[in-house]
Amino acid sequence: MEIIFTSSDVYLMDCFAQVSGENLDLAKAEIEALARLCPTDMVISWFGRIAKLQTPVSPVEFLLDRAALVQRAGVLLGEVIHDESITEMISDDIWRANVLPADKFSVRTMCIGRGYDSRKRTEIEKDLGAHIQNITGAEVELRAPKTQILVIIVPKRILVCKSSESRLRRLLRTREPGKKPFFHPTMMNSTLARVMCNLAGVRPGNTVLDPFCGGGGILCEASHIGAVVVGSDLNWRLLAGAKRNLSEISAQYSVLQADARYLPIQTVNHIVTDPPYGRSSSTRGTESKKLIDSLLRRVPSLLQPGEENLCVCGSTEMGLPEMILDGGFTLGRDIRVSVHRGLVREIVTANL
Ligand SMILES: C[S@@+](CC[C@H](N)C(=O)[O-])C[C@H]1O[C@@H](n2cnc3c(N)ncnc32)[C@H](O)[C@@H]1O
Repeated sequence: MEIIFTSSDVYLMDCFAQVSGENLDLAKAEIEALARLCPTDMVISWFGRIAKLQTPVSPVEFLLDRAALVQRAGVLLGEVIHDESITEMISDDIWRANVLPADKFSVRTMCIGRGYDSRKRTEIEKDLGAHIQNITGAEVELRAPKTQILVIIVPKRILVCKSSESRLRRLLRTREPGKKPFFHPTMMNSTLARVMCNLAGVRPGNTVLDPFCGGGGILCEASHIGAVVVGSDLNWRLLAGAKRNLSEISAQYSVLQADARYLPIQTVNHIVTDPPYGRSSSTRGTESKKLIDSLLRRVPSLLQPGEENLCVCGSTEMGLPEMILDGGFTLGRDIRVSVHRGLVREIVTANL
């Protein structure tokens, strides 16, 4: 499927991103949401877990730092059809510009769908490695290369890319709830929290509200993006924990004890939240569905209309999409995510 955000007669550069295969719908939605935050239009074509991105300004550095489900990204050096020779089709100047003599480099292949067997792939790696070495004088280094050349074999064509690993995914692992100063089992994990902030289009400097903030899993990721965060919850112990977690990231936060049905808050740019569900997070006797319903009735006075700036995660039994539509919102994404022990969550985005 090809998603065209808009098009214009400008020079487009080709880039790629490889996303995690765990939940492809979620990973695709994250890239597409982030494309809207980029300064220029972007054309996205998907080949399984590979997104080919065509845009006047490279989104590569942004995606490596910002997208939770992007594993690696880079620029496309050339594109050939299956029977063409990579070494003949990609000019020597491209290799000289992208692999410096002092750089150690690797050539790896990956295959999307059925295609090349391992013998054919090893052949490509060896031949292209020798060719680049010959042209640039750089040394091959497979374990810790400075420059990674990735040859992606997709149906009908081969994308030859210069690739870099995500910088964010390593950081997200260090920010899991169990590694924060305060931990509670109801806290949202850092990867999902980051994806939700991205789906809601959070930008640095924007205000983000989580009216069920608990220990602050979502607020912490919004804060890492550079947002000003506001959290409220009924449970003051969790609020004290959220404060501990946030104080080690940013000074721009406020947390208050409040019932999500009666929020003493004026306006914010985004709401990103997960109301209580399941056994471990207390609803203090009020059903989650009713809670969300009351919150949704309050949203029009909190959020600006137009942008997809509301992202809610709930259990599939809640009927979040129906509630969003009944509330008069426009439903954006509706994605199911398996969590653990058979628990399935549903993430929806919406705008007024
Ligand atoms: C799933 S946890 C939230 C996790 C949190 N969003 C995070 O990012 O880590 C749900 C939270 O809702 C809170 N809660 C339950 N009923 C509430 C209500 N009526 N108003 C506000 N908070 C409530 C619970 O105390 C609990 O902290």
